[in-house]
Amino acid sequence: MMRSMTIAAAALLAEASAVNTSLSLLPASPISQSHVPQFVSYSFEPAFWVEFFGEPNAPRNLTYTLLNHLHERGARPIIRAGGITMDSMIFDPNQNASVVRTENGRGGIYRTIVGPAFYRSWDNFPEGTTFVSTLNFGNNSLPIARDLALASYNLQKDKIVHYELGNEPTNYPTSRWQGSTKAYVDQWLSFITQINDALGGNKTGHSNGKWWASSATTDITPLKVRPADLIPAGINNTGQVSQYSIHSYAFATCEPARERLATIPNILNHTDLLRYADHEIYPSAKLAMEQKGEWVIGEFNSIACSGKPGVSDSFAQALWTADVELIYAVRNATSVHLHQGATLVFQSNQQLNTPGDDGTPGFSSYSLLYPINSTKRGEARVLPVFVSQLLVVEALSEGGRIAALKTPEGVAEREFSAYAIFHAAGSRVKKIVVLNLKLYYAGQDEERGLVVLGLGDHKGATVKRMTAPSVDEKDAAKVTWAGQSFKNGVAAGELNIEKLVPGEKLFVRDSEAVLLTFE
Ligand SMILES: *[C@@H]1O[C@H](CO)[C@@H](O)[C@H](O)[C@H]1NC(C)=O
Ligand SMILES: *[C@@H]1O[C@H](CO)[C@@H](O)[C@H](O)[C@H]1NC(C)=O
Ligand SMILES: *[C@@H]1O[C@H](CO)[C@@H](O)[C@H](O)[C@H]1NC(C)=O
Ligand SMILES: *[C@@H]1O[C@H](CO)[C@@H](O)[C@H](O)[C@H]1NC(C)=O
Ligand SMILES: *[C@@H]1O[C@H](CO)[C@@H](O)[C@H](O)[C@H]1NC(C)=O
Ligand SMILES: *[C@@H]1O[C@H](CO)[C@@H](O)[C@H](O)[C@H]1NC(C)=O
Ligand SMILES: *[C@@H]1O[C@H](CO)[C@@H](O)[C@H](O)[C@H]1NC(C)=O
Ligand SMILES: *[C@@H]1O[C@H](CO)[C@@H](O)[C@H](O)[C@H]1NC(C)=O
Ligand SMILES: *[C@@H]1O[C@H](CO)[C@@H](O)[C@H](O)[C@H]1NC(C)=O
Repeated sequence: MMRSMTIAAAALLAEASAVNTSLSLLPASPISQSHVPQFVSYSFEPAFWVEFFGEPNAPRNLTYTLLNHLHERGARPIIRAGGITMDSMIFDPNQNASVVRTENGRGGIYRTIVGPAFYRSWDNFPEGTTFVSTLNFGNNSLPIARDLALASYNLQKDKIVHYELGNEPTNYPTSRWQGSTKAYVDQWLSFITQINDALGGNKTGHSNGKWWASSATTDITPLKVRPADLIPAGINNTGQVSQYSIHSYAFATCEPARERLATIPNILNHTDLLRYADHEIYPSAKLAMEQKGEWVIGEFNSIACSGKPGVSDSFAQALWTADVELIYAVRNATSVHLHQGATLVFQSNQQLNTPGDDGTPGFSSYSLLYPINSTKRGEARVLPVFVSQLLVVEALSEGGRIAALKTPEGVAEREFSAYAIFHAAGSRVKKIVVLNLKLYYAGQDEERGLVVLGLGDHKGATVKRMTAPSVDEKDAAKVTWAGQSFKNGVAAGELNIEKLVPGEKLFVRDSEAVLLTFE
């Protein structure tokens, strides 16, 4: 049963399924830096660029419509055309199409050839969008990497904020550097010095000091090149690193053993999300910050190898994305780039996902949208996750600084997450985000539970709710942010901003999140 939004929290407390507790607004973590409008950012697999963005003179409307919703709210996502296929990407000045894939008949991609139109299509993005120019390191060819850098510079230098050489070097053949961090650093520095020269001089040219470094995964591999390994190895001794980029994938469907663990209960275990962030990511982040350097999550999503249908295409993915982006916001990531793409046949021969039968893209079920009609995923549409982006953008707008809050009494840490957000300068809590991660499935016998949170004295507040009929809801038409859904890109339904009178408690149903703004 969906309860009416107008029922006051006090009335709901009478119900057996309600947890009556209170939320302390005292920060339970350090308060973060002031966040920039680039915080919510994206990574798009270059091989599928045209499916998501179209050609310069024929833009794909649905994807741009989603980006426009973020821009209207003040966000300025940085777009990284990156991922595995950037490591077999080649520039052809004579190619008319933005992107041509060289494939085997079953969707295996050997090469992604980009023409000038690939860079020209950047002009279709909302005003103020910036990009990471990604360069192929996989082919071990300076001319290939340099020509991509030159093409991007010649066509779009004003929009490029960073350059990136290579994606996930941790996954390259071991023979390349024999597991030697130093051998990797030497070759990386040699390439970027020569590319800097090609772009106008290695101390003055356009790419000088603009390089993302690392781009590593957190997998255990012979080559250790996370920022925690690269910083002591001298990667920034010549001052070339603008930001350290780390890739974050705590779950995967790349092979059966990990696929079994990629479940809704596991991806929404807040305690485990904290464990991953603190053990796998934060040591590198901390070392970067100790050098006064910035760090980013250059690529991430819930479940590596293109997600898991039933999990990452459901409302669970919206709750996961909101929580993980805020976990990294607390830890001072400058931006987090949510990855979008389609199944890559050569990534694993044991993976769950496959392309379409005819080798057409099998779009990743963790993406914000299925950008075109496809044999594999059906009609083009937005997925339930999209609303999480509106929540995070609105939460961190205007330079918000964020801190985690303590789990309230009577609630399990793994099922609950809450944050306080401060003005850029002020010390007063301006907003709070609460995620009730207790699972409520479609068809569950018990009534949907809720947490009722006392917030102490307050002078009234407005509340926007991110909700769905259940955690496993797959129809974005039933997934709403402040009453509106976005299945076809445009907002459908009436905006519903709830009001709390002074001192009133806040209720959050199981499998639901809210953004509260104090008056
Ligand atoms: C909820 O908790 C508050 C604070 O402990 C208490 O005063 C109030 O009576 C409780 N309400 C219900 C309905 O249990
Ligand atoms: C984030 O940066 C702020 C300074 O802006 C600092 O006080 C805080 O300790 C940092 N947080 C973490 C988790 O490192
Ligand atoms: C793109 O979508 C928006 C929103 O649905 C609509 O207003 C606009 O006319 C569309 N543009 C094109 C070229 O279809
Ligand atoms: C590329 O575009 C030019 C100019 O429109 C045209 O003359 C040429 O035939 C096109 N080449 C291909 C391979 O389509
Ligand atoms: C680049 O590397 C890929 C993967 O190893 C290979 O299939 C392709 O032939 C290489 N391309 C060039 C131009 O060397
Ligand atoms: C570029 O870097 C190389 C290697 O560090 C150095 O030998 C060379 O003098 C530099 N060139 C310029 C113009 O700074
Ligand atoms: C949640 O994650 C924590 C930390 O990894 C783990 O100890 C715990 O067993 C998990 N809980 C459930 C119910 O899976
Ligand atoms: C790299 O070194 C330069 C020059 O010292 C510095 O400005 C920059 O912040 C450093 N980059 C990072 C990410 O630490
Ligand atoms: C996509 O599928 C829908 C529903 O089947 C259809 O109405 C629409 O015309 C298709 N769009 C294209 C571009 O084929």
